[in-house]
Formats: sequence, structure tokens, C-alpha cells
Amino acid sequence: FHVPKAVNEPVKSYAPNSPEKAAVLAAYKKMWNETIDVPMYIGSEQIKTGNTRTMSAPHDHQHIVGTYHLAEKSHVEKAIASALDARKKWSQMPWEHRAAIFLKAAELIAGPYRARINAATMIAQSKTIFQAEIDASCELIDFLRYNVEFMTQIYQDQPTSNSDVWNKVEYRPLEGFVYAITPFNFTAIAANLPASAALMGNTVVWKPSDSQVFSAKIIIDVFREAGVPDGVINVVFGDPVMITDTVLASPDFAGVHYTGSTFVFKEIWKKIGTQIHSYKTYPRIVGETGGKDFVVAHPSANVKQVVTGITRGAFEFQGQKCSAASRAYIPQSLWPAVKEQLIIDVNSMKMGSPEDFSNFITAVIHEGSFDKLASYIDQAKKDADAEIILGGNYDKSKGYFIEPTVIVTTNPKYTTMETELFGPVITIYVYEDAKWNQTLKLVDETSEYALTGAIFSQDRYATIEATKALENAAGNFYINDKPTGAVVGMQPFGGARASGTNDKAGSMQNLLRWVSPRTIKETF
Ligand code: ALA
Repeated sequence: FHVPKAVNEPVKSYAPNSPEKAAVLAAYKKMWNETIDVPMYIGSEQIKTGNTRTMSAPHDHQHIVGTYHLAEKSHVEKAIASALDARKKWSQMPWEHRAAIFLKAAELIAGPYRARINAATMIAQSKTIFQAEIDASCELIDFLRYNVEFMTQIYQDQPTSNSDVWNKVEYRPLEGFVYAITPFNFTAIAANLPASAALMGNTVVWKPSDSQVFSAKIIIDVFREAGVPDGVINVVFGDPVMITDTVLASPDFAGVHYTGSTFVFKEIWKKIGTQIHSYKTYPRIVGETGGKDFVVAHPSANVKQVVTGITRGAFEFQGQKCSAASRAYIPQSLWPAVKEQLIIDVNSMKMGSPEDFSNFITAVIHEGSFDKLASYIDQAKKDADAEIILGGNYDKSKGYFIEPTVIVTTNPKYTTMETELFGPVITIYVYEDAKWNQTLKLVDETSEYALTGAIFSQDRYATIEATKALENAAGNFYINDKPTGAVVGMQPFGGARASGTNDKAGSMQNLLRWVSPRTIKETF
């Protein structure tokens, strides 16, 4: 079995009259006119409990996309039993077969499922086509392809043997099952968390976000069509606390692969800690949580680059990326030019539904998110140390629309400089040019998070200074580029401090968390 060298999936253009544009719009229209009913996938069964919730489109919340069925405790227990049962064969399957299955899944997404998974992501997660293409198609395909390449590299890493002693390391899956909890904001992450653990021979109980059920259904359908056997990835929906408590109560719980809020991740960690005596192994805890990601401009920075970093970093996908730029530090000398360009760029961004490809901004994910963002915006309107210079309007009559909003503050510790809002809001602090070093210190100290950050500078010494001063402030550090959009195989992604365990999604380090190696020595 020759594993092909992984290549990144090219991003399609979706230009007017392109076949991909016609295909995705046709899929969008068809899905919009259907109402899907999504079962849970447990073992060989597709279970409809009859206890359902509806999914609506964030940009048109009266429009019901479909329904999905919620688990009782007994379904979660059944999912665990199915995972443990499937593990018996899956963990013994030659790795080449697992690799072939997930490579096949990548090609199914790249081909026949591409329009569908992009359209589902546009409808139920309100991504523009460009954001959907980068996420639900390219990044998802890249994760699947690169993980296979990383897996083969791991297996090849063998210790020295000689004529007296033969040594081998077997990279076995964990003893038990893995729990994947995935977010709404990236279809690719939602697929990668269960898939990466499964690729290494584990079986999984997967709890997708309520807001991502539609694309989760397509992911599981693709995996099954590619040959993932029954019980290897079991999908349950419903009450996250009940599901997590049930999973963590199992002595066979062997690890959690998580992306979501810091609060929930810490709660899970605490529960695992209090129950540590009940587990057969020390569960692996791998998580990527929040961010309060920065853009810092040095006085030597190129203004256009800075503004693009802010607008794309803060407003693509409505700022609903853990990596999104949400606080910026601009020197006084550049501020007039940055402000002028920012006003031009932000005013040119159209807001509306994702099926209109000229829209740059669509709706935020749900009412809870909308209300939270609106309250921070209202507060900024009142606060003496904050001024909204762009945006600040919102409207939820049809969809959950929040204008791209720029707050300027005179207080570097202003609430929205510190708090993750997860929406299209960025706060800017203008610093005195002479205080460059103090500003770097401020950037480092202002947030508990350390996920991403960007520095803009044309001065090599300043770049080096910032790279050093901010070495613990971001797991992904960008020089003269926006702090979002890590590409699998190019920029392994993850953060430290309160942002997560920094096990870099789409990397060899990450896959190593899902194996329990056995060293074998034989003497002659
Ligand atoms: N991996 C995503 C990014 O880099 C979150 O923006």
C-alpha cells in the first residue's frame, strides 16, 4: 500500500458561470426546499427517538431546515457499548485499510459530496460560499489526507535493533473509547475530531453541536459510504451535560477530543479528575477552546496589510472563529491612515444571506449569540472610554444580523479588549509610538488566552522583538498576515494558556495523543 503524498485541496473560485457555483446553488435550493430528519447513528442502527429539536437557518430563523432526534441516557450507553464492540475488529484492522477508508472519504468530499456539504454549511451554519468551501471542503479534505500521511510517519518511527535484540514500537489505539465533542463553527473540525481518533484505531462516541447537525449528517454519511464500519463512529445528539456525564461514567472512557468553550472544557477536566479512580487508563484530554486574538501594528507596518488583517481576521464568518482578530493595537502615527482605510473597507462589505455570493457577512449562529453581542455593543455605546466608529447596528427580525463593528477604546483593559465575544466585533486601542515595548507587554498580559495573534511590521528588528516578547501569547503567530485561516499541513493549529492543550489539530503530535504505544523487545 503506497500512501500518496498529501496535497492541499485547491480552493475553487465559484466565479460567475462556473460549474461549481451552479452546483452549490442547485444543492442549496434543493436542501432549502426539503426538511431533513436526522437520526442518531448508533452501531448498525439509525435511531429516531421521536423527541426532536428543530434546526433553523440563522439568516432566516423562521425557515426550518430540519429536525434531529435527542438521546436518552440509554442511547448514550448504547453508543458506548457499540463503540467498545466495534473496537474489537477496528483496532485489529491493518492500518492500511483504515487509511484507505479515510482517503476515500476525502475523495468523496472533493467530488460528489462537495456541493452538498458546502450548501449544508451555508444553510445551517450561515457561512458564505467562500468560507464554506475553505472549511467544509478544503480543510476537511486536508485533515483526512494529511492525517493519513502523519499516521504513516508515526508508524515508521521505530527504535534501533541489532543482531542480538529486535525492538519494535506498536502504536496501538487507546484501551477504551474516545469521546469527541465538536463545535458549530467549523465543519472540518467537527469531522476531524472523531476521524483522527478513529484513524488511529479508536472507536468514538461523537456529540456534534446542535447548530452543526446538518453538516454532521453529511459527514457521517460520507464516512459510512467510504467504509467506516458500524459502531466505529457513533453519533448522539441532545443534552450535553447528560451525554458527557454518561460518557465520563464509563470505566472504558479513554480520552476526549474537544473543541468548544473554555468553561465547558474545564468542567469536563474537573469531572474526569474527580472520577479518575474509576478509569482503566488515564484518559487523554485534548482540547481547543477560546481565544482573544490580537493584531499589533508596528509604526513601520504597511497600512493596507494591517487593515486587511483586521477586516478579514475579524469579520470573515462573522468573527465566529476561535482564531478571529478581536483586539488590535495601532500606533498613533498610523491611526489616521488605518482608520480611513478601515472605513472604506468595512463600508464596502455587504451583509445578507449566504446564497448571494456578493455578501461578505451573514448572520451569527443563534439568538443567544446575537443577544450577547448586542448587549456588549449597547454597553460600548454608553461607556465613556469606548466609541463605536463603524457598525453598531443589529437586527434579528429575519436573521441574526450584527453589523461588522469597530470599537475604539482609550482603555487598553476595556471589557471587549479582554472578553471573547465570538462575533463580528473588534476593539482597537491606539498606542503612543514610543511605547512599542510597553504595548507588547500589554498584549501579552491582557488576555488569559493564547491562541492566535498577528504582528504587522516592515522593520525586521521590531518583528524579531515582537516574536520574542509574545512567545507565550499565541500558539499560532502570524507575521504580516491575518491571525485566521491556518492551512492543514502548513500551519499546525492550536493554542496554549486558557486556549487549550495545544495539541495542534492536523499534526503528528495530535495523532500521537490517540495511541498507547507498546514497546516489544526480543532477544536472540
Ligand atoms: N483553524 C482555524 C483558523 O485558523 C480556526 O482560523
